[in-house]
Amino acid sequence: MKSKIEEIKKKSAQEIEKITDLKSLEELKVKILGKKGELTSVLRSMKELAEEERPVIGSLVNEARDTLEKLISKKEEEFKKYEMNKKLEKEKIDITLPSSKLKRGSIHPLNRIIEDMEDLFVSMGYDVVEGPELETDEFCFKRLNLPEGHPARDMQDSFYITDNYLLRTQTSAVQARTMIANKNQEPIRMITCGKTYRREDDATHSHQFNQIEGLVIDKKERNVSLADLKGTLEVFVRKIIGANLDLRFRPSYFPFTEPSYEVDVTCFKCGGKGCNLCKQTGWIEVLGSGIVHPNVLKINGYDPEKYGGFAFGTGIDRLAMFRYGITDMRYLYTNDVRFLNQFDRKDEEV
Ligand code: DAH
Repeated sequence: MKSKIEEIKKKSAQEIEKITDLKSLEELKVKILGKKGELTSVLRSMKELAEEERPVIGSLVNEARDTLEKLISKKEEEFKKYEMNKKLEKEKIDITLPSSKLKRGSIHPLNRIIEDMEDLFVSMGYDVVEGPELETDEFCFKRLNLPEGHPARDMQDSFYITDNYLLRTQTSAVQARTMIANKNQEPIRMITCGKTYRREDDATHSHQFNQIEGLVIDKKERNVSLADLKGTLEVFVRKIIGANLDLRFRPSYFPFTEPSYEVDVTCFKCGGKGCNLCKQTGWIEVLGSGIVHPNVLKINGYDPEKYGGFAFGTGIDRLAMFRYGITDMRYLYTNDVRFLNQFDRKDEEV
């Protein structure tokens, strides 16, 4: 009987070894270990044995069963692994294949230039602040040294909502708001960008446009001077419009600054030689600026004996036109995708 068990074990092991697929393995498993299997029939015939032989044979059968079970499950594992690999192989995707091109949106040229200006001024230690578009006469004019009846108000044809409220005509209003909000009279270094409104509409003017405004105020002993203003505007113009541009300060008049300057830059079309764009002067007017008027300091809670600084402001739409060579300001507002697609940051692609 011992040799018979040995033989069953050997023969079954060989059969298991020969199996090549999971289904036949299942069938073989039933044949070897099932109720009708040879090992089971050995167990059944044990009653014919002598009492003392039974445990010996019983343990031999169990040992054979264990060994065969292990062989079968090992084989099962192998098949399962093989099937899984085959499946994975079939489902493989080639991640090195180029994808179909994604259509990307683009940032509007105005927002793009605003982002660039904010980044630049933040890097120079400025705060970026905001003010309301619906403004009071007080902040838009009076607090900027433009009392009622001042002739300079005529230059800003305005949209009044009531006698007192209007759509702001200039971001300069935020100068006054920042000074008033700064009750501790800490030094100020701020820029603000935003929409402004005037009653005008042609190729270089829109009833709604955007301005950037800058204000620096510090203690008199820190001596914030025209040289600081010039240096700041030089960095500004060269970073935002063009690296090779030169600046020219031309005396001018603004009610909120004294002295006041208009800042011209080299004509970007002719490089300063003179052309139709710059009216043969070689210069294009870009900014208004100056040293903050003592009245403005006084009206907004700063003692002009103790504080001083500079301010500047300009139209962002014009800056965008200069930077990108846009010929009609209205393109910036009509949302024509043929125009907007040209600003999809191709130049920034890595
Ligand atoms: N607010 C002026 C305008 O709309 C521009 C300007 C000029 C702003 C001189 C300033 C400045 O801050 O100092 O025409």
